[in-house]
Amino acid sequence: MRVEDDASRPLAERVAGATALVCLLTDPVTGAVIEAAGPGLRVIANVAVGYDNVDLAAARARGIVVTNTPGVLTEAVAEFTWALILGITRRIGEGERLVRRGAWTGWALDQLPGMQLAGKQLGIVGAGRIGRRVAARSGAFGMSVVFAGRRAGGTIDDHPVVSIDALLVSSDVVSLHVPLRPETRHLINRRTLARMKRSAYLINTARGAVVDEEALVWALGEGLIAGAALDVYEREPDVPEALRTRENVLLAPHLGSATRETRTAMAELAAHNVADVLAGRPARTPVDA
Ligand code: GLV
Repeated sequence: MRVEDDASRPLAERVAGATALVCLLTDPVTGAVIEAAGPGLRVIANVAVGYDNVDLAAARARGIVVTNTPGVLTEAVAEFTWALILGITRRIGEGERLVRRGAWTGWALDQLPGMQLAGKQLGIVGAGRIGRRVAARSGAFGMSVVFAGRRAGGTIDDHPVVSIDALLVSSDVVSLHVPLRPETRHLINRRTLARMKRSAYLINTARGAVVDEEALVWALGEGLIAGAALDVYEREPDVPEALRTRENVLLAPHLGSATRETRTAMAELAAHNVADVLAGRPARTPVDA
């Protein structure tokens, strides 16, 4: 098997003649790329749980199996979500910047007061593996949880399911865990941000375009929400200056799954998926499973 690794050449050139493509969420696997691979391409193994970078319809039309890496990153992303929740509500970024620039003058009773989590409500948008694992950790911080969903009135893991509107108006922290799809693009926009409590925080570890970044900048500027902690952006690696210059925004460079354990497991799972398909076996984690 030929292994192509010259990352400086365009993907469409590099895939020509490949039977398997192992790709990252930063690789746009468009119809043109799939076309350029030629008829031998049998599997596209995305090393990510999200696969909005892959043109699924084009792959399906050619009978190509598309796989992702669910499960192995659930814990890492859930842990990172809690890191962001704690970081933004306790103003860790602001405090660290104060210390680093040598401007800290000592302990003060009114210095950088944050929001206590115990007794507050966490609203989780997206009740998949990651959203549910985030919820499972909520007891450690004394937070109650609501999920947003169409089955309002029911429960998920004993937590109430409410409409997204009810979640937004009542939650102290809103955390996004939906995949990026046409129906979730800009789910968080001017209208939905305006529904949130002025004291609430928005957390995004899902995909940047689930949030209308321009609307978020507006909402923060108007004081409609207390702050945001973001790991993902609409046009990575570009992060709008209007976000980078705000104190009440915690910004991470898409690190959700970045533990040594998880990144290794993601790479291994992608490799198993390729080996399975090329050996004529069903892939372990095809995206349409
Ligand atoms: C990371 O963002 C992933 O989808 O795995």
